[in-house]
Amino acid sequence: MLTRRAFGDDFIWGAATSAAQSEGAWNEDGRGPSIWDTFAAQSKNLSGNNGPAKGSDFYHQYPNDIRLLGLLGFKNFRFSISWSRILPNGHGRINQKGLSFYHRLIDLCLLKGITPWCTLYHWDLPQALQDKGGWANRDIINYFEDYVHLVTNEFGDKVKHWMVLNEPTAFTGVGYFLGLHAPGKRGLSQFLPAMHHAALCQPIGEMVIRSNVPNSYVGTTYSCTGIHPHSQSVQDVQAAERMDAMLNRLFVEPAMGLGYPVKSLPVLRKVYDYFGPNDEKILPCNFDFIGLQPYTREVVSHRFIIPYLQARLIPANERSVQHTAMNWEVYPPVMREMVEKFAAYSNVKDIIITENGAAFPDQVIDGRIDDQQRQSYFVNHLKELQNCVLDGLPVKGYFVWSLTDNFEWAESYRPRFGLIYVDYEDQTRIVKDSGYWFQRFLSKTN
Ligand code: NOJ
Repeated sequence: MLTRRAFGDDFIWGAATSAAQSEGAWNEDGRGPSIWDTFAAQSKNLSGNNGPAKGSDFYHQYPNDIRLLGLLGFKNFRFSISWSRILPNGHGRINQKGLSFYHRLIDLCLLKGITPWCTLYHWDLPQALQDKGGWANRDIINYFEDYVHLVTNEFGDKVKHWMVLNEPTAFTGVGYFLGLHAPGKRGLSQFLPAMHHAALCQPIGEMVIRSNVPNSYVGTTYSCTGIHPHSQSVQDVQAAERMDAMLNRLFVEPAMGLGYPVKSLPVLRKVYDYFGPNDEKILPCNFDFIGLQPYTREVVSHRFIIPYLQARLIPANERSVQHTAMNWEVYPPVMREMVEKFAAYSNVKDIIITENGAAFPDQVIDGRIDDQQRQSYFVNHLKELQNCVLDGLPVKGYFVWSLTDNFEWAESYRPRFGLIYVDYEDQTRIVKDSGYWFQRFLSKTN
């Protein structure tokens, strides 16, 4: 049985959002454009109202959203800072109005007894920095360091919980290798330097936070996916191993002092071309926690024609399994698989599930959203997590993705992940039944 008490009194319960997906107000109060504004303007699917320009209007509606977060019983809120809202050119001139927005948001959380958890980078690089090459240009490390100094000096007396990067595999892989996310770059010569510079920003971000924020609790977040070979043939098993190196090991291993997983994925060797003399020594981190973001699993088969990976992900709808609006299989054991996998690294201390959730097509009927499928998704994933806690695995918290429906990147607004429904016509909110389920669950003491 799922009970809140089994998780213990200190277990952290929260909900998450990110700036580019929820704030909107893309050109208000002096904000500079991010790569997602530019990418959307150039993309057929994301032009006009389909881009991030309005988001879920969090910039204006944050008092209501934080009120609803409290109403549902969450005591922790994960959000990200829009770099170009506080540094419109990515560096140099500071936009005071941008800083004051985050002060208002953080102050409101604290007033309501909600702990703010701040992600420094959730994919919205200032366009001005992309114009200089973005993550593929090594100068990004200095720009990032300056940005983290600014943010942590500004908010460090109020915010103690920090995450350096959100899902670096996703923003470098999909944005700089596949070109399907901003900034739409493709190929190894973009991806490998972007990957390496992001990996170097993990320890550098950690160090800056620690130097400016006394009593900080510092981590970073990783995408993670259960990886299962399609068959036990040697070829499929090896394809799955390459995919695992790419999707699960790429950033955590250098952070743990193990280097890049080049043995399993030889093409990564080319990354050494981008190494500076001391990089090997800089890469390891000493995080207080790592954030894991498990949503699903993938089944992998060998496929020679797919460059570098020679592996194919078999889509969930081809496998006739239950899946979400993202075509992601609903597979609750992923919780335990991922917690065990990452807890096995000897340098991992605490694990926090910094995102988990599901998009399903929601229907408003008589002002209500009866989202049974989402509710079952939470119940079944939380049961797995509860067993991890009971078995003594070091899981300390869980954040729902997401507090409200919002801009789901290349998928625009179609997939709805929120506990709170957003009507994008007028930006009004309706708490979904799954939100009320959390309210009941979190209010129980037994
Ligand atoms: C991970 C990302 O951090 C978040 O931005 C995204 O919306 C969710 N996964 C769902 O795809």
